[in-house]
Amino acid sequence: MIVRNELRLGVNVDHVATVRNARGGFHPDPVRAAHLAAVAGADGITAHLREDRRHIIDSDIERLRAEIALPLNFEMAATREMVEIALRHRPHAACIVPERREERTTEGGLDAAGQMEHLRPMVAELGAAGIRVSLFIAADRAQLDAAAALGAPVVELHTGTYCEAIDEGPEAFERERARIEDAARYGAGLGLEIHAGHGLTFDTVKPIAALPQIRELNIGHFLVGEAIFVGLEQSIRTMRRLMDEARAATEALA
Ligand code: PXP
Repeated sequence: MIVRNELRLGVNVDHVATVRNARGGFHPDPVRAAHLAAVAGADGITAHLREDRRHIIDSDIERLRAEIALPLNFEMAATREMVEIALRHRPHAACIVPERREERTTEGGLDAAGQMEHLRPMVAELGAAGIRVSLFIAADRAQLDAAAALGAPVVELHTGTYCEAIDEGPEAFERERARIEDAARYGAGLGLEIHAGHGLTFDTVKPIAALPQIRELNIGHFLVGEAIFVGLEQSIRTMRRLMDEARAATEALA
């Protein structure tokens, strides 16, 4: 049986920090946003400490760990520097993402299949420290096989291409949705916990939230943008409601 609260919402606060960093100083504070996210129904907080510190900075991670009771999902590149930081702060989870300095955002999934030897010791080291390791990968069976072979307990499926497909018409949107569905089923069959995220909006979240294998969605940019118009609390509450509606509809069919 599917329980509604099994679908968690992780609120990504990176872009609160983007706005802060546009001027330097302390406002708006991503930790204040995390407090509000907890009030609005988030189950976790996600933050990506990029190599160039373009949004989240080291002290944000320190404060998120110290001041926020919700689990922290620390997004990190597969580098020694980031492993050391994760080991120091011991977040609930570490999501390993690909990172290129010149990209505007995380543009593709991690090539887990092509980097097995590089990733294996990191996954083991983080896991041994009690950090739940997640790999941010494309909805691709070879990548899921690699994640399982690496012993990662969790994968996060990259929903960026799916979200962009909404502008290409219903056929493209359905094709990409089906790709996520296939990956969610296949990955769950391998024993992986399935998360998803990137680019999700009010218009794209429901078909993904409806997939019963998916346990967590991580959403940031759209929520922070929508907050300009309706406030962060309302923006998160609406997303939470849409997720719950979609999951309840799945339950009703089960
Ligand atoms: N999940 C991962 C692994 C990400 O890298 C990001 C973007 O930082 C997100 C989720 C959230 O994506 P968005 O900000 O587009 O909602």
